[in-house]
Amino acid sequence: QTKLIKIDADDPNKEDMREAAEIIRSGGLVAFPTETVYGLGANALDPEASKRIYAAKGRPSDNPLIVHICRFEELLSIAKEVPPQAEKLADAFWPGPLTMIVWKNEKVPYETTGGMDTVAIRMPNHPVALALIDESGCMIAAPSANTSGKPSPTEAGHVALDLDGKIPMILDGGPVGIGIESTIIDLTEKVPMILRPGYITKEMLEEVLGEEVRIDPGIIASDSTKKPKAPGMKYKHYAPKADLVLVEGEQEAVVAEINALVREKQAAGLKVGVVATDETESLYQADYVVTIGARSDEDAIARHLYKILREFDDWNVDAIYSESFSTPRIGQAIMNRLMKAAGHQVIHV
Ligand code: TXA
Ligand code: MG
Repeated sequence: QTKLIKIDADDPNKEDMREAAEIIRSGGLVAFPTETVYGLGANALDPEASKRIYAAKGRPSDNPLIVHICRFEELLSIAKEVPPQAEKLADAFWPGPLTMIVWKNEKVPYETTGGMDTVAIRMPNHPVALALIDESGCMIAAPSANTSGKPSPTEAGHVALDLDGKIPMILDGGPVGIGIESTIIDLTEKVPMILRPGYITKEMLEEVLGEEVRIDPGIIASDSTKKPKAPGMKYKHYAPKADLVLVEGEQEAVVAEINALVREKQAAGLKVGVVATDETESLYQADYVVTIGARSDEDAIARHLYKILREFDDWNVDAIYSESFSTPRIGQAIMNRLMKAAGHQVIHV
């Protein structure tokens, strides 16, 4: 009973958009594409609508949602105070993969913010997302449109696999462009702080702001001594069914180590997958060898990551070994997601 509608991102069909907007206005859920990942949307100012999001995803109710807007003035209408950095960042990066955390006013229900007094706001850079917000006349609360604990969906088929029968409509705008969730920056502290790394990096933010930006220590620590400030970052997200281990070091040593580990597991009767790169794909012997892209093309690696993790789930592999990636630019976000998926299991060779 979930309606899956193909939408031309360059020219969204008006009739389809009206139908989707009507669902949002009446408190229902619509999955839609953004430039980062697919979102599961509902009217952000309707507490009952927000509750439906948590129910459909099986999401813990203390994990707040991001409110998606299509005009900067909408931020002004739900923020209690507008931090001086907000306008600069919006000018530079909106619409785009940046979420800002500000103090909320009384219009935003606690159902949407997971009980917090702050609200996360983002203007997505995707014509379908913007048209849905505009046409519905609602700000749209939207987490990634996956079942809680699964990798975020980067194509409509992933959404259907997780949520078919649980939501009235999925707008299929094709595969997303970025593939990793937005950067989250908290503007409620003296020094702006990144709570989740993404396509917009610390360096890019510092350049626009002309001031220091920190990274939440809670997301770097491999132990659990520091709690991340974004509630969602503490959950074991993105976890594939198989045990995932990252192997780090010089290319030749990494290939040798992974092949040895694969042989060991196979000898024990297990099915094993390898996450390779274009450069190394032909060098591995395993049950499934998948390339994530060329090492030089970080954007492609980001775009393919979640799809690959889902594929390994489909193939029911028991163990996955993955190469690891350097951390400048979006590499930091890639490693953040991979490390979480691996439960921080890393072998250095
Ligand atoms: O790219 C994205 O941001 C995608 C697309 C759909 O826009 N959305 C997304 O939403 O990734 P979600 O719900 O999967 O992740 C939202 C993250 C969670 O880790 C949540 O804890 C954090 O944002 N968050 C939301 N509101 C917050 C707040 N007021 N304070 C701290 N963290 C917050
Ligand atoms: Mg998510």
